[in-house]
Amino acid sequence: MEVIKVKNYNEMSKKAAEYIISKVRSSNRIHLGLATGGTPLGLYKYMVLDFHKNKTDYRHVTSFNLDEYVGLSEENPNSYHYYMKENLFSHINILDSNVHLPDGNGVSLQKECVQYDKLIKECGGIDVQVLGIGQNGHIGFNEPGTSFGTKTHVVKLTESTRQANKHFFNHMDEVPTHAITMGIQSIMNSREILLLASGIEKSAAMHKLLHGDLNEQFPASILQLHPNVTVIADLQSLSSQI
Ligand code: F6R
Repeated sequence: MEVIKVKNYNEMSKKAAEYIISKVRSSNRIHLGLATGGTPLGLYKYMVLDFHKNKTDYRHVTSFNLDEYVGLSEENPNSYHYYMKENLFSHINILDSNVHLPDGNGVSLQKECVQYDKLIKECGGIDVQVLGIGQNGHIGFNEPGTSFGTKTHVVKLTESTRQANKHFFNHMDEVPTHAITMGIQSIMNSREILLLASGIEKSAAMHKLLHGDLNEQFPASILQLHPNVTVIADLQSLSSQI
């Protein structure tokens, strides 16, 4: 695992954008795995700035998002479909037909999970998967205790994850109870992983990621077994080991 230490959130975002943009420039048919949440917002902001300034071309780029809530429509401002459109897709020239997120509103969620993994496989897999990390070590919505072998599946969100996400909603009652997430195995199948972390509240999780044991109670620990992981993390998030 290569760790790139940066000063703060802004530096993390810039470095991550440079990283992704250079991948897109060198292989414009790249398959990106994307994340939502607070962490990649700065990355997306810099990708949009670069698109306007340097015209990096996303016409042939394909994307797969990690997860989506169950029961929120695509137009709901808290859905990850909406988040991705607002923060990235509607500002660059990626094609709608090349953008993929799990459908949390389908008639059969189980079928959707199988279909999603199938689609990723048929497209040739993910080249670079962007990840954030939960304070409890979750990646995607794979909460502690999730088997390392899981494929895309439906999860019941833990209270701690619902609490951590509640600032995006008006009331706790509105925070969905379930989500569809790429499984740990689906994430591990990516050829490359870029994990981003910023802020003191991530420092315990980062310490466990970098120094802890492999343990299903800490899902991100599986990344220790991935041959190509780059971590871009700021000083605060690394403060447990500085
Ligand atoms: C988002 C996702 C989550 C987040 C994690 C960190 O698609 O899958 O695992 O990456 O919850 O969230 P933030 O970045 O808001 O701290």
